[in-house]
Amino acid sequence: MSTSTSAAGKIRLHHLIDERWSPRSFEDREPAESVLRELFEGANSSASCFNEQPWRFVVARKSMDAEWERMLGILVEKNAAWARSAPVLGFSAGKKTFTHNGAANRFGLHDAGMALSTMMIEAVALGLRVHGMGGFDARKARELFHVPEDFEIGAAFAIGYSAEEQPPQRKRNALEHVVFEGDWGRPAGFAR
Ligand SMILES: Cc1cc2nc3c(=O)[nH]c(=O)nc-3n(C[C@H](O)[C@H](O)[C@H](O)COP(=O)(O)O)c2cc1C
Repeated sequence: MSTSTSAAGKIRLHHLIDERWSPRSFEDREPAESVLRELFEGANSSASCFNEQPWRFVVARKSMDAEWERMLGILVEKNAAWARSAPVLGFSAGKKTFTHNGAANRFGLHDAGMALSTMMIEAVALGLRVHGMGGFDARKARELFHVPEDFEIGAAFAIGYSAEEQPPQRKRNALEHVVFEGDWGRPAGFAR
């Protein structure tokens, strides 16, 4: 099991977290159906408000030519340039209302993000990597893939076996600017 230190150089994170990163180049091989199944079972196991499970994913595999090309076409040019090597592309969506009573669920997209994050960790366990993307046309995604109005589009993503090495160091804000204790802006004692 490999571990490394955090940005602060003190904490050893679990290797599944430590080895997650966002590559921009993927090997030319498609993950097996069983692998994709496990990946999305991981996402689907995530926590959610009222156990609503508001996440949905639309994916396209390179082997499904037309759909994959259509998915590639929703990305901004800069992303499409590298994501073209990914065997699987997709995007997430979060349901805006609770199913049991129709009330607004302000955690829909939040929980869809949690599911994607869980999937990113499961991907590392499977030897894959998932690269999230905000640079895409969400309106186009909705139109082309017939996403209902009750779902908010989340993030696009590329899935595959990385063809590049993990960068040596993460760039992260110091914890004292991220975790407050007792009041906003007051760095937590353990974060300093
Ligand atoms: C919601 C979201 C949107 C992102 N949008 C893009 C994007 O449009 N293009 C891109 O190359 N990377 C994108 N990224 C990847 C981030 O740039 C990356 O996660 C960040 O730089 C940290 O690097 P790491 O994931 O390798 O730790 C996105 C990530 C997330 C979670």
